[in-house]
Amino acid sequence: FSAFLTDRFGRQHNYLRISLTEKCNLRCQYCMPEEGVHLTPKSELLTTHEIITLARLFVKEGVDKIRLTGGEPLIRPDVVDIVAQLYKIEGIKTIAVTTNGINLARLLPRLKEAGLDAINISLDTLVPAKFEFIVRRKGFHKVMEGIHKAIELGYNPVKVNCVVMRGLNEDELLDFVDLTKNLPLDVRFIEYMPFDGNKWNFKKMVSYKEMLDTIKQRWPELEKLPCEASSTAKAYKVPDFQGQVSFITSMSEHFCGTCSRLRITADGNLKVCLFGNSEVSLRDHLRVGSSEDELVEIIGAAVGRKKKQHAGMFNISQMKNRPMILIGG
Ligand code: GTP
Ligand code: 5AD
Ligand code: SF4
Repeated sequence: FSAFLTDRFGRQHNYLRISLTEKCNLRCQYCMPEEGVHLTPKSELLTTHEIITLARLFVKEGVDKIRLTGGEPLIRPDVVDIVAQLYKIEGIKTIAVTTNGINLARLLPRLKEAGLDAINISLDTLVPAKFEFIVRRKGFHKVMEGIHKAIELGYNPVKVNCVVMRGLNEDELLDFVDLTKNLPLDVRFIEYMPFDGNKWNFKKMVSYKEMLDTIKQRWPELEKLPCEASSTAKAYKVPDFQGQVSFITSMSEHFCGTCSRLRITADGNLKVCLFGNSEVSLRDHLRVGSSEDELVEIIGAAVGRKKKQHAGMFNISQMKNRPMILIGG
């Protein structure tokens, strides 16, 4: 594995998240402020050619999993073509997407054909009216249709990302668990994280422990499953249910020690930690004609500066970061 993608703590970064756009067709409260965010001019966003060039470089150094994020990645007009081009890169094992699901049913057959391996879909409530409140747009049935299409096309598990917020959807945990009874889903309950403009506060966050207690009261037989070391999620299952439920515990029990992830923002910055604010513009280096070796050096130096772990929930709630929509998760 490349020394350039290995940090001071021995973490090997084989997982690259690439944001394809800053735009989104929803306005989720936990992701962006109501008034929207300042968008980068198009000329300063990565072109498809630049995305593929960078992806090739990272794969050459050891990345074998690429996740496309946004904004909403499925509103990029050439997303299918991007997947097809990534698929051709030798050394890639997994191409994944994290989507809000709105355009999924329509695009999935072509994405699958192009080589898409895995899908994570955001869905925070099973109540249509609440959906509209959380995401400030319509579309609940489209998302459900997307989830069913993913199952129909054989994705297994289909991961469902549910950001749990007190007073909003923490009363739906058991309904989400029930959804895994007859469907091959991995419902992932995510602790609410602070980002610029999302009005996070400690009281709105529901911890892993609290969620687990609630679920165990109804399902005492809930079973813990083994997980990959670098996984963001801790997995559980109700025996005999087809699917499983997991917890992403970034706040109460971070998993930075096994972090394998790097990010490229839509405007071309390398971000070595979700909660890090030192970024380096790969776009600028590409555009002045830096050689591949120079780029790899620059990437290696940034990875070398990666901190051991994020700064703790109260510090990260006060640090300057991007709004989530401009990171991609
Ligand atoms: P898999 O590749 O399927 O394991 O998905 P993932 O969990 O890595 O990615 P996804 O886009 O589905 O994100 C789910 C949640 O995990 C979101 O809330 C992300 O912000 C969060 N997340 C993803 N990567 C990291 C990370 O490196 N650190 C932290 N703290 N949270 C992360
Ligand atoms: N806290 C936790 N997860 C979040 N996501 C977006 N904003 C937040 C937040 N503030 C999740 C979305 C999406 C993934 C990329 O990140 O649900 O599934
Ligand atoms: Fe990795 Fe940073 Fe997330 Fe920790 S907070 S797991 S170091 S990206």
